[in-house]
Amino acid sequence: MRLAIADPPYLGRANRWYGDGRGAGRVRSDGGGSGRNGRKPDHHPEARVWDDPASHAALVEQLAAEYDGWAIAGHATSTALLLAAAPEGAQLAIWSRPNALPGGARVVNAWEPVVVYVPRPRRDRATGLRVRDLLVASVRPQGFLGSKPPEWTRWVLDMLGYDPAADELVDVFAGSGAVASAADGMLPLVANSGMEATR
Ligand SMILES: C[S@@+](CC[C@H](N)C(=O)[O-])C[C@H]1O[C@@H](n2cnc3c(N)ncnc32)[C@H](O)[C@@H]1O
Repeated sequence: MRLAIADPPYLGRANRWYGDGRGAGRVRSDGGGSGRNGRKPDHHPEARVWDDPASHAALVEQLAAEYDGWAIAGHATSTALLLAAAPEGAQLAIWSRPNALPGGARVVNAWEPVVVYVPRPRRDRATGLRVRDLLVASVRPQGFLGSKPPEWTRWVLDMLGYDPAADELVDVFAGSGAVASAADGMLPLVANSGMEATR
């Protein structure tokens, strides 16, 4: 089966974190180093397209059209947007982050949504490993803003029923390479399908 994990920039933070917005080109306080020409290693001049809600909705539709199973990550505030764009059969899973730092909002966010579309033949409990739709795992500073801990990738792959012998896995936003690293040994994995290059 064709599976995809899409972990795009958070809506509203894309240009600030990865593009030419505030902080561009600086070494970050989370341990991230600067890349060539003093730029952040994950600098994307076109990152601002991910500050447009329509880009996230279009990505959900593209995943639904092109893959048998997929998962898309987001921020709590984009949950409604992601679910509205998702097809029947998609479901919401929650990543609870005990060590999440409070942002500027009054209601302190401690979780992130993952909208997951489990391949239809892998939904019955007799078809494989049982897995909860809730993960509690701390964020680990890895030098890349938005990078996911290895438990996150394994959890998402378990929900998708990932079978390295039978599946092709596309990591749509490679970033730090955390998804590829966590899936290492479970290859084949195709990093970066080029989907984002079309945006
Ligand atoms: C939420 S992070 C997650 C990445 C990855 N899953 C990880 O754990 O490191 C989103 C990533 O999207 C990348 N990104 C930002 N704008 C992009 C663009 N226009 N095209 C491709 N990638 C982009 C950033 O470099 C960032 O690493």
